[in-house]
Amino acid sequence: MTSWYSMPTARDWTCPPSPGDAHAFHQSLPGYSPTPLVPVPELATELGVGRLLVKDESSRLGLPAFKVLGASWACRQVLRERPGAMLVTATDGNHGRAVARMAAHFGVAATVFVPEVMLPQTAARITAEGAKVVWVDGGYDDAVRWAAAFAADQPGRALVQDTAWAGYEQVPAWIVQGYQTLLDEIDTQLGGAPDLVTVPVGVGSLAEAVVRHCRRPAAAHPGVLSVEPDTAACVLASLTAARPRYGQFCAPAATRPSPSATRTHCAPWPTSAGSASPRA
Ligand SMILES: Cc1ncc(COP(=O)(O)O)c(C=O)c1O
Repeated sequence: MTSWYSMPTARDWTCPPSPGDAHAFHQSLPGYSPTPLVPVPELATELGVGRLLVKDESSRLGLPAFKVLGASWACRQVLRERPGAMLVTATDGNHGRAVARMAAHFGVAATVFVPEVMLPQTAARITAEGAKVVWVDGGYDDAVRWAAAFAADQPGRALVQDTAWAGYEQVPAWIVQGYQTLLDEIDTQLGGAPDLVTVPVGVGSLAEAVVRHCRRPAAAHPGVLSVEPDTAACVLASLTAARPRYGQFCAPAATRPSPSATRTHCAPWPTSAGSASPRA
């Protein structure tokens, strides 16, 4: 089922941009190069638009997704504050593999909590990065709760999670900052602003980075179209309710770190709310 939400006034809304320090750090990493911006003329014709370009993140710093841009910057920032800490996280795949890769890069240990639905081959790729993988009896949110509790249990452990909740906002903010590199690359490759940016939503970090970039003051404000699965549509639910909505993914209160640790809602309200639409 497809549901739409449109907010034409969103383009006038502004918010502070993400600080851009991460780009220089990414350029210092082995194997860094901008990923391609690939034209897809057939789809442009089908949709009746002038030009359609895809930012191809299938090979980013040697990994198959953009998540390493956020994870690498956050790991760097965390280890600056807590040198030698074991990095701890929960994942559905890409984020955890990126944290494991960065732990090996910085020479520290990593423990990655994964939901029971994860494919064994996905977990094996995280193990192959040198991390310890812990399977959780439950879903993604349970894995996040276990990772947070495990990290809090000993001083030498640091949680690097892309999901945010009250009291845990700095690390998710660093992850959003890491994605600024991708947006800087697009600006350089495109030589100007697009008319519309479409962004997929999981925990919402990439969408927040896109909104911060496309709603920064004194810059072009292209349309932003966010797309999320109808099985985890917290952004749509939040926009429709005009307040943060936390998905049915919340487990019993006793076991969750905080009410806001839900699968798909991490952008602090109203950072993304005023601008995720207009949707076409
Ligand atoms: C390939 C891919 N695309 C999109 C997303 C969604 O990104 P975010 O979780 O920052 O919303 C993810 C999240 O894991 C991903 O792995």
